[in-house]
Amino acid sequence: MNSVITVGIITVSDRASAGEYEDHGGPALRDACGAHDWTVDAEAVIPDDLEQIQRTVRAFSSQGCGLILTTGGTGIAPRDITPEAVRGIMRVEIPGFGESMRMQSLSITPNAILSRSLAAIVDTSLVIALPGKPSGAVECLGFVAEAVPHAVKLAKGVPTSC
Ligand code: MTE
Repeated sequence: MNSVITVGIITVSDRASAGEYEDHGGPALRDACGAHDWTVDAEAVIPDDLEQIQRTVRAFSSQGCGLILTTGGTGIAPRDITPEAVRGIMRVEIPGFGESMRMQSLSITPNAILSRSLAAIVDTSLVIALPGKPSGAVECLGFVAEAVPHAVKLAKGVPTSC
């Protein structure tokens, strides 16, 4: 039987966290998780702040989220800092996730090349940092979703056979 995947979703956006606009990325990812039968256990909307991103990722991991999705802050705007925040606390990066998301997204938009999206293991969780545009976040998650269950098990230290 497949084990349940519990998910934490973090929207990283100065303006959404300040209430200047409604967060659409988090709800879009929640729906996408539902379609995969993954259980969303935690959600947060936080500013583009390195320490807050790191604190929230670690808190979601320690509360048992095997998969943590961030949306936003992967680009090249002055405040975009999500990749640096994740890299600052990760054990290992999994480059194939970023490579796959960018490669497949390029057939949708040439601007996909601007995203520094990535995946990494932080504590006992798989963290995937997705672009901020809700449709882009859902597209990118879809491109790597098949690898998620196995990666989540490995992140938890569950013995697996490939
Ligand atoms: N990837 C997909 N699949 N679809 C998209 O619409 N938008 C791109 C890119 N990746 C996009 C995408 C754009 S316009 C930007 S600026 C970068 O992601 C970075 O977005 P972020 O800074 O909001 O994370």
